[in-house]
Amino acid sequence: MIEIKELYVNVEDKPILKGLNLHVKAGEIHAIMGPNGAGKSTLAKVLAGDPSYEVVSGEVWFKGQNLLELCPEDRARLGLFMSFQYPLEISGITNLQFLHAAYNAVHQAGISEEAFLDILDEKMALMEVKSEFKERNLNEGFSGGEKKRNEILQMAVLNPALAILDETDSGLDIDAMRVVASGVNRLMRADNALILITHYQRLLDYIKPQFVHVLLDGKIVTSGGSELALTLEEKGYDWLTV
Ligand SMILES: Nc1ncnc2c1ncn2[C@@H]1O[C@H](COP(=O)(O)OP(=O)(O)O)[C@@H](O)[C@H]1O
Ligand SMILES: [Mg+2]
Repeated sequence: MIEIKELYVNVEDKPILKGLNLHVKAGEIHAIMGPNGAGKSTLAKVLAGDPSYEVVSGEVWFKGQNLLELCPEDRARLGLFMSFQYPLEISGITNLQFLHAAYNAVHQAGISEEAFLDILDEKMALMEVKSEFKERNLNEGFSGGEKKRNEILQMAVLNPALAILDETDSGLDIDAMRVVASGVNRLMRADNALILITHYQRLLDYIKPQFVHVLLDGKIVTSGGSELALTLEEKGYDWLTV
């Protein structure tokens, strides 16, 4: 699905990612954990194609294509989905309009809003999102939990091959996290994959990764199974720095 080889990334001439390697296959869930400032969101943004992040060297292959040569729109069309730590709020565009436009853009389709509503209603039921969300402005006045739930709805509508969720659990209470996690779990299949970026272990009680990686100072310093998340919860990250 995705293979990242020796990735070096600078932000404003400062090295942030320093030789990161990661290989994710279809059907797998990987968690990337690490302390604040380790470079987790930088990895998500560089994969999304954010131009403020400069790739110095390294390679990223996504579904057999050189990801770093693709524009952000083509990355999405190829099946890459990102959910960010701080979702955008946009007034003047409803959630329905946004999702409809995103659906048509990503799937290179031209379906009408009416036809899209059939798809959306099904996904909203699956994700337990209230119908009123369709007519509300995108993320405007949404609580933290509602924004995250809405992002998982976007994920359900776009049906990506690879989803990268950056701190989807931040700001969620336990009930909201359960809903988000069960939504994500329902979307997982043998032909898609998920990278969960998280600072805390608790999300991993609800979404079970087969692989856990620790990102420290721009590199993955250790990898293991889901038990590694529990060790990190208990011991923190300091023991890994020495
Ligand atoms: N757009 C940016 N401009 C300047 N510095 C940035 C930017 N994005 C990230 N950084 C810096 O890169 C480092 C890693 O940040 P980030 O990837 O957000 O870490 P994490 O998500 O692991 O907490 C931090 O030192 C941060 O200040
Ligand atoms: Mg971050």
